[in-house]
Amino acid sequence: MKIKTIKCQPFNDQKPGTSGLRKKVDVFKAPHYLATFVQSIFATLPASQNQSLLVGGDGRYFNNEAIQIIYKMAIANGFKNIFIAKHGFLSTPAASHLIRKYKLDGGIILSASHNPGGPKGDFGVKFNINNGGPAPESFTSKVYEISKTITQYQIADVPDLDIKSVAITQTGNIKLNVIDTVNDYADLMEHLFDFDLIKSLFNSGLFSMVFDAMHAITGPYAKEILINRLGASDETVINGDPLPDFGGGHPDPNLVYAEELVTIMNHAIQAPDMGAASDGDGDRNMVLGRQFFVTPSDSLAIMAANAHLLPGYQAGISGVARSMPTSMAVDRVAESRGIECYETPTGWKYFGNLLDEGLISLCGEESFGTGSDHIREKDGLWAVLFWLNLIAIKKQSIANIVQQHWQVFGRNYYSRHDYENVDMDKAQTIFNRIEQQLPVLEKKCFGDYCVAQADNFSYRDPVDHSVTENQGLRIIFTDNSRIIFRISGTGTEGATLRIYYEKYQRPDGDLLQDSQSSLSELFAIAEQLGQIKQISGRSQPDVIT
Ligand code: G1P
Ligand code: ZN
Repeated sequence: MKIKTIKCQPFNDQKPGTSGLRKKVDVFKAPHYLATFVQSIFATLPASQNQSLLVGGDGRYFNNEAIQIIYKMAIANGFKNIFIAKHGFLSTPAASHLIRKYKLDGGIILSASHNPGGPKGDFGVKFNINNGGPAPESFTSKVYEISKTITQYQIADVPDLDIKSVAITQTGNIKLNVIDTVNDYADLMEHLFDFDLIKSLFNSGLFSMVFDAMHAITGPYAKEILINRLGASDETVINGDPLPDFGGGHPDPNLVYAEELVTIMNHAIQAPDMGAASDGDGDRNMVLGRQFFVTPSDSLAIMAANAHLLPGYQAGISGVARSMPTSMAVDRVAESRGIECYETPTGWKYFGNLLDEGLISLCGEESFGTGSDHIREKDGLWAVLFWLNLIAIKKQSIANIVQQHWQVFGRNYYSRHDYENVDMDKAQTIFNRIEQQLPVLEKKCFGDYCVAQADNFSYRDPVDHSVTENQGLRIIFTDNSRIIFRISGTGTEGATLRIYYEKYQRPDGDLLQDSQSSLSELFAIAEQLGQIKQISGRSQPDVIT
C-alpha cells in the first residue's frame, strides 16, 4: 500500500474551543484544512496509542467526505484496527460507549453539535481519548501548537471505503470494521434502565410521548430504543431521519429552536404526556411535560435525588458535579444526601477525571446536558430514558415530579440569556467593563441584593491539580442569587455573550412564579453593570432558556 506525504502550509486558526474545532463548512473544505488538523491530532497521540480508532459523525454535510479522508490518514499514520460507523452515523454518546467497550485508543467525532449544518453551515472535529471522553485541555493545546507549524501529512493511497453496510475487511495487518453503532448503545441503555417497566408504561395506553430527533443523529437510535425495544408507537419519533442540513433547522433542543415540539407540547388538549428532543450529535436533551418545561439544572437535581430508584444506579451515587453556570439546585440534593458536589468550568471535558476517579456518578450542565458514569460524554437519549423510567416508577406527570421536588428542596429560578453573533469587540467591551468592576463590587448592594463574592472563576482539578482560569465572571449575592457572564467557546460567528441568572426560593416560598419575572431585578443589575443594550446595540437577548 502506498503512503503519500502531502506538503502543506500550517493554519493559524485551529485552536479547539469548548468542544473540538468548529468552523464553517467552507473553511473545513479548503485544501488540506481538515487533514492538517487530523495530522496534528495523530501527532499528539503517544506512540503507544495509535493502534485503534473510531470514526463517524452526526451526519451533517461533509460528514462522509471527511470520514474517507480520515480513514486513509489513519492507515498512513499506523492505525491497525479502524472502526468506521455505517453510513457515517455515530452519536457522541455512542462514540464514547464504543471507545470504552472495545477499548480503543480514541475516536474522531465529526460534529459541530447543535450548530446548523448544510453547505453554508458549520462543521467540526472532536477527538475523544481512550477513556471515551473529550480530550483534555493539555491534549487539545498540544494539537493546536502542532497545527501552527505542521508542514506535511500522511495519507494512504487507497480507494474510498464502502460504508453503506456492516463489513470487516482485512488488508495485510490492517483491519477495517464498518460497524452499526446503534445496537451496542441500545444494549447499554437496556442495562441501565428498567425496559420492562417502561414498556408497560407505553402499553398502558395512558401515556404518550413525542421525541423530536430534529433530523439529526438520534433518529436511528431513538427508533430502535423507543419504538423497536420499548414498544412506543411509530409516531413517537418525529424528524427521525438524519439529514445533512438537519432539514434547514438549528438542531439545538431548546424552547426556541425546537419550536415544532414546543408547539405540540403546548397544545391545550392534545399535548402528549412527555416531549423530548436531542441535538445534532445526540448529547443534549430537552425534557418537556404538558405545557411544562424542565430546566436542565432542575433535571440534574431531580436525577440526583431519584437515581437510586433506577436499576443502573441502585447502589446510590458517589457524588455529583455541575458546570459553574449551572444552577445550584443539585447542590441542595447533594447536601441532603451527604455527598460531594463539584463545580467545574463549562464543558464536559472537566467531568472526565471526576468520573474516572469514581468521585461522581452524575453530572450536568445548564446547556441541556446531563450524563452519568456509564460513558464520558453527556447523553441525550440516556436522559430521556431516565425520565421515562422515573415516570414509570412514580406514575406521576412530569410537572408533578418537578413541583414535588421543589416542595422538598426549594426552587432555583433560573434563566440563560444569549446575545448571539455580537461583534467580538463589543462583547469584549461589555465583558471587560464588568470584570473591571469586580474588585469593588463586594459588599455593594443593589436594592435587596448585596454582593457576597465577585470574581473570575478558576478551577483546580482535584485529580490532576491542573488549573483552568478565566472561566466566567461570577457575581454571587448573599442570598445565593447569582449573575454569571461568559463568552461562548463554541460559536463560529462573532461572539455569543451568555448571561446566566439564578435566584433561590425556599420550599415555603412562592414556587410557581414565572421564571423571567422572578429574575427581573437581576436582569436590571446585569444591565447596570454591563450596559449590554447600549454597547451591543441589542434591545433583548436572541435566545432565552
Ligand atoms: C456550550 C455550552 C456548554 C457545552 C458546550 C458543548 O459551550 O454552554 O455547556 O459544554 O456548548 O456542548 P459554550 O458555547 O458556552 O462555550
Ligand atoms: Zn452536542
